[in-house]
This record gives sequence, structure tokens and C-alpha cells, in this order.
Amino acid sequence: MPEQFKALQGFKDILPDEQPYWRRVERVATEVATLYGYRRIETPTLEETAVFLHTAGVGTDIVEKEMYSFDDRADKEGNRTNLTLRPEGTAGVVRAYLEHGMFRLAQPVKVYYLNEPMFRHEKPQAGRVREHHQFGCEALGDGDPAIDAEMIALLYDFYANLGLKHIRVFINSIGDGNCRPQYIEILKDYYRPLLAELDPLIVRGLDYYTRTVFEFTSDIDKLALNGGGRYDGLAEILGGAYTPGIGFGAGIERTILEMKRQQVTPPAEERPLAFVVYFGKSPEYKEVSVRIVATLRHNRIKTEMAYGERSAKSQMKQANNSGASYAILIGEQELAGGFVTVKDLQAEGLGTESKQVEVKEEELVGYLKGRPEQRKSQD
Ligand code: HAM
Repeated sequence: MPEQFKALQGFKDILPDEQPYWRRVERVATEVATLYGYRRIETPTLEETAVFLHTAGVGTDIVEKEMYSFDDRADKEGNRTNLTLRPEGTAGVVRAYLEHGMFRLAQPVKVYYLNEPMFRHEKPQAGRVREHHQFGCEALGDGDPAIDAEMIALLYDFYANLGLKHIRVFINSIGDGNCRPQYIEILKDYYRPLLAELDPLIVRGLDYYTRTVFEFTSDIDKLALNGGGRYDGLAEILGGAYTPGIGFGAGIERTILEMKRQQVTPPAEERPLAFVVYFGKSPEYKEVSVRIVATLRHNRIKTEMAYGERSAKSQMKQANNSGASYAILIGEQELAGGFVTVKDLQAEGLGTESKQVEVKEEELVGYLKGRPEQRKSQD
């Protein structure tokens, strides 16, 4: 027996039933980011390891234990570059900002990324996977605290517009290049005698933050929905001039987990307006059906049909299960007369024959476009 493969541990398929949640998050994120003046950016999933080594921070868990790093194939001279699957989005954005001379544009440069996959070799558990996706915003080139406030307001709007409640915001300042080194020394002195008790408990995230830091959590399970803050020193680490910067990354998997927990459901997917059913085994029935389906679709009417050699009964069942508003029936009389019978599936059960009308094939598009359901979906 050939081996049955499974996705890697901590890597998830996003199946069609899940997609409405992802599309909803994407839509709300795009709306809110655009409203606040952020423009979309996409950076590569793979970067030179050095980009993350010094920005995320040597000694942090992310760099030391969690990065998916490997040597690239050798170039002509036999040299290999060590590459890393992006564990977070900020370093790549700052690299791109410097590489493309975006510091010459009007500052701040405000960008967002959406649905970008991030890879961390963490222990999978509820809300923690090895490939996760983020919606993130970064504002580079201006240190005005108004941007800090704007960033937090944007995030708040994002969760509120999704319909989430019970979201708590934690804000702090972790100091800057002047006070932080001294503070870290005092902290180290304090913890040194306690080290034996603490070591496995200390988790270090990202090294690049200065001054404002923030995190939103759900009141329900305290899971971090996002993390963000200022990183005024990051551009210099990547070989650029001093550039203030601030941003956040919001985990999409965790946002969806929270939506489900709070029973926030995304809008339902659009159902077909028409489902074509043919009552005959000879090839003409199928030919006419395929032609009608094509015509309706070319007229932007969402249409389905049954494939294979199914009985009329089984096709009708499929039509009902599809949630279509109308079944377009093609039988012997219809074929001979050049018309179709349009059956109102949503009115079924009322027992009225009048819910079934004959429509000439060439008038079908006009007929369906004039139906109330179609008018509604065009609004
Ligand atoms: P982070 O706090 O490491 O920050 O991650 C941001 C968010 O990504 C987390 O709050 C969480 O929602 C989600 N996340 C992280 N790891 C996982 C995981 N293993 N499974 C599921 N979700 C996860 C950053 O990545 C920074 N780049 C944020 C930032 C942008 N700071 C400034 N600009």
C-alpha cells in the first residue's frame, strides 16, 4: 500500500469551509488599513538568514530555536548562502524600505501586509502553529507619537469591525537606547541570584523594540491576538540610517479562533442562482445543458450543473443541496420546443405549480436577471 501523506505537524490546510472566515478577515483588514492610509506591500517568504539574525535578535527563542534555516544550493563559485523562511514580517519590510530608497519618499511610509505566512518551529498547541499568517502594519520614517496612537486605534477598529468583543489592550514603554541598557543591567542583577529557578520560564520574543510596545489579548483565554511596538533602531541594524519605525503583527489564525469562540460568523458564500438539470440520456440533453450553463456564466449568473450520468432524481437532489434559487429543467418537451422550465426551488413545499414557468432559451438570461434574488445580489 502506498503511504498516505499528512500535512506536517503544525502546518494546516485551509479548506473551503474555512475560507469565508479568511475572506472576512482579509476584507476588514484591507478596509481598515486603507482607511488609515496604509498601502499594501508583499515581501518574499525567503530572506538571507542575516536579515533576521540581528533584527529579531541573537539569543532570542525565535532566532536560536525556531527558525527554518538552510543552505541554498551552491552558486557558480561553490558558495552557499544561508536562507530562512520568514519568522516575522518587520525585518523584511525594513529591508525593502532601505533597498528601494523609500526614505526618499514623503515620510512616514505607511505599509500593510496581509495573509503573509510566517514560519516558527514552535511546539504546536491551541493557537500556536508552525506556519501562521499575519495582518501587519508598519509606519517608517517618523517618530511622532501620534502614529503610535493611530496604530493602536487602527487595531482596535479592526477587531471592532470584525464584531469581536472582550478585547483588552496592554500598552507600555520599554525605554530606548539611553535608559534601556541601564535598566537591563539592573534587571540582570536582580535575577542573577534567582536564575536557577527561572531559566526555563523566561521567554524572549523579539529584540528590536524600543519605547512604545503593545499587545491585544482576548479576555477569554489571554491569548495574544497581536504584538507590536516601536523599533527605532532596526533600520541601522540593517545598514540604513537612523529611521524611527512602529508596527504590529496580528495573527490571523488567532483572530479566527476568537471569532469562532465569540460566535462571530462571516457572511455566507454566494450560492448559485441556477442549477441546470437534464431529463434524458441522449447526448443532445447534455449539449444543450452545457450551452445554457456557459451562456448564464458569461452573463455573470452563478450557475451549476450535475456532471456524469446521474438520474434526474439525483440531479434534483444536487440542485436542492446546492442552495440554488432556481432549477433549469431540460426534458423532452423543452428540447423539442426550444424553451426551458424554470423551477423556483426556494418556493418548494408551497405546492404551487405556478412556481414553475416556461421560458424561451434566448430569454432565460433576461428572466433570471429580473428575479428579485439577482436584483438583490447586484445591489
Ligand atoms: P509577534 O508578537 O512575534 O510579533 O507575533 C505577532 C502575532 O502573530 C502574535 O501576537 C500572534 O497573534 C501571532 N503568532 C505568532 N506566533 C504564532 C504561532 N506560532 N501560531 C499562531 N500565531 C502566532 C511579530 O511578529 C512582529 N513582527 C510584530 C511587529 C510588527 N512589531 C512591529 N511591527
